[in-house]
Amino acid sequence: MPGPPPRRLSLEDFRPRTLDEVLGQAPAVARLRRILTGVRNGTVVPPHLLLHGPPGVGKTAAARAFGREALGENFEANFSELKAFDDRSHQSLPGIIMNSRTRPLGGAPFRILFFDEVEALAPDAQNDLRPAMEGEGGWSVYILACNDLGAMAKALQSRCTLLEFTPVDLADMRRIVTAALAKTPFRLDPAVLESIVERANGVPREAIKLLLEEGGAQPYPA
Ligand SMILES: Nc1ncnc2c1ncn2[C@@H]1O[C@H](COP(=O)(O)OP(=O)(O)O)[C@@H](O)[C@H]1O
Ligand SMILES: [Mg+2]
Repeated sequence: MPGPPPRRLSLEDFRPRTLDEVLGQAPAVARLRRILTGVRNGTVVPPHLLLHGPPGVGKTAAARAFGREALGENFEANFSELKAFDDRSHQSLPGIIMNSRTRPLGGAPFRILFFDEVEALAPDAQNDLRPAMEGEGGWSVYILACNDLGAMAKALQSRCTLLEFTPVDLADMRRIVTAALAKTPFRLDPAVLESIVERANGVPREAIKLLLEEGGAQPYPA
């Protein structure tokens, strides 16, 4: 009898879970690891972070992986993710800020508020974050991510450790595509794999899309 039909793959299936899986961003990842070591030693609360760089190169993935590793079992209860252009988070900004002054849940040493695509916040709203980032107690760590550093209020930049994300080089892109391929049932001709690596133009998200396109167009392997 034939088994159940194979599950369909989507971009979600390739999300890095750990910092180890964020490839081609060595300086930023090394810095995040150094911060994690201090957190694990119990000596420091992480600084606020600002991750910047072009779309699709791993900022969101790195922020979540960092959060998971920094908070451990407290991750679910103390990591909140907000998208700046999401109306709800816009409206609730004052509430979020109020909340960030309270103790984290479950006895965690700090919580993480991850603001993705933060340049989409109007300059006023960006400024609203300032007092929160100066907040007393050190209970709330902000991670901000943006594509365009130029659109970020200088006052916010100056309160954060800046981590630059860049397009990845061909060797790292090859590792990314090879690792992603291993999570699929696809068998790709090495020449096709190489063309994906090149066509992705330094953007891993693009490479994964191309992989799904090329692999998905093949006859399903027996
Ligand atoms: N540096 C990377 N290493 C491994 N996979 C990556 C990397 N960057 C992006 N990806 C892949 O592309 C997807 C989208 O990346 P994302 O973190 O959302 O990029 P950004 O936030 O910079 O726009 C990830 O879920 C992952 O599958
Ligand atoms: Mg992102």
